[in-house]
Amino acid sequence: MVILGIESSCDETAAAVVEDGVHVRSSVVASQVALHEEYAGVVPEIASRAHVEQILPVIREALAQAGIGLGRIEAIAVGNRPGLIGCLLVGVNAAKALAWSLGVPLVGVDHVAAHLYSGMLHEREDLKMESAQGRRGAQTENHDGRFPALGLVISGGHTAMYSLESWTKSSRIGTTIDDAVGEAYDKVAAILGLAYPGGPNVDRLAREEDANPKAVALPVSRLGTDSLDFSFSGLKTAVLYAARGVPGQRNREGTLLEQPPALDHARKRDIAASFQATAAKTIILKLERALAVMRTKHGKVESLFVGGGVSANSKIRGELEAFAQREGLVYEPPRLAYCVDNAAMIAGLGYWLLRAKQLNGANASGALDCLDLEAMPTTSMA
Ligand code: KG4
Ligand code: ZN
Repeated sequence: MVILGIESSCDETAAAVVEDGVHVRSSVVASQVALHEEYAGVVPEIASRAHVEQILPVIREALAQAGIGLGRIEAIAVGNRPGLIGCLLVGVNAAKALAWSLGVPLVGVDHVAAHLYSGMLHEREDLKMESAQGRRGAQTENHDGRFPALGLVISGGHTAMYSLESWTKSSRIGTTIDDAVGEAYDKVAAILGLAYPGGPNVDRLAREEDANPKAVALPVSRLGTDSLDFSFSGLKTAVLYAARGVPGQRNREGTLLEQPPALDHARKRDIAASFQATAAKTIILKLERALAVMRTKHGKVESLFVGGGVSANSKIRGELEAFAQREGLVYEPPRLAYCVDNAAMIAGLGYWLLRAKQLNGANASGALDCLDLEAMPTTSMA
């Protein structure tokens, strides 16, 4: 089944053509980074207007790169929640208009759930390689065998863990009580004077050869002995103090405490590496706790699914692979292009949602039945 995916929840306008939920035939993303750079964050009104301008050219480009016309599209999947409401409305309305005019089913996909699916996406070369190695393509793999699974979404807006029973049944088992980890990355980048969006720049600096991840002692947030929740605001503040010093802090004698070393390149590099190591350690600590809880409940946990912009981070990717190997979990790290916001993950998960709806005899067979699909600012993944 050939599905057109559409994504416009934040600052990327994206469209993709995905076959049978796994084979990505095209994935086009128009980034708005340049428009938001001077504000060091996404301005919702500017983002919505840019989506209006970009949505049709991006869809046309996705079809052209896939080498197909609209007539070959068998269903439309759209990210309808969560996100900035003005932005979501652009994608949702484009999707409705297309589904109605083509007479094909429309399916709304939760953006957070779609991030969890990103490791399932394969490009043509991946599938060729798998069959050459005598492995079955992901397309024919029994998805049931991958569950129960532990899921982790680490992005600019979300940091949460999930217990997944299938692609359509999951429950959230932990979430951030303050900042998302991507938000912490972006704030640390701002503290260190790195360009927006900061996550990839912190990653780059931390990877420099002489960077010392032990140079600055930073707190790993545990939130009690069995909490599965995350907190990154304390870490962010600790980075601020390591960079700029604690304002006006005096010792018992009343003299001002020594200020931190000058914030030169070497110091910035060490702070970036120390922050990154601490963020990775915090995430792995919570995954270990979550896995123990899930094993008590289900006996065996089969796989790990991870997605979201921060899953593109080099240090965190390495730690996640080591964790999965240690714990005997099947884990396919998403390609870098599918970590950040994209529409291939929407089309991919959309395929399974549509199949589930069709199996259950729901009204997924007619576009008209789905034109009441709503855009919503909140996630369904609670
Ligand atoms: O998933 P995403 O594209 O958008 C949301 O749904 O939020 O994630 C964006 C976040 C930003 O905070 C960005 O700084 C972060 O992902 N990010 C990274 C890296 N690449 C993107 N953070 C750390 N290291 C990276 N390499
Ligand atoms: Zn996202």
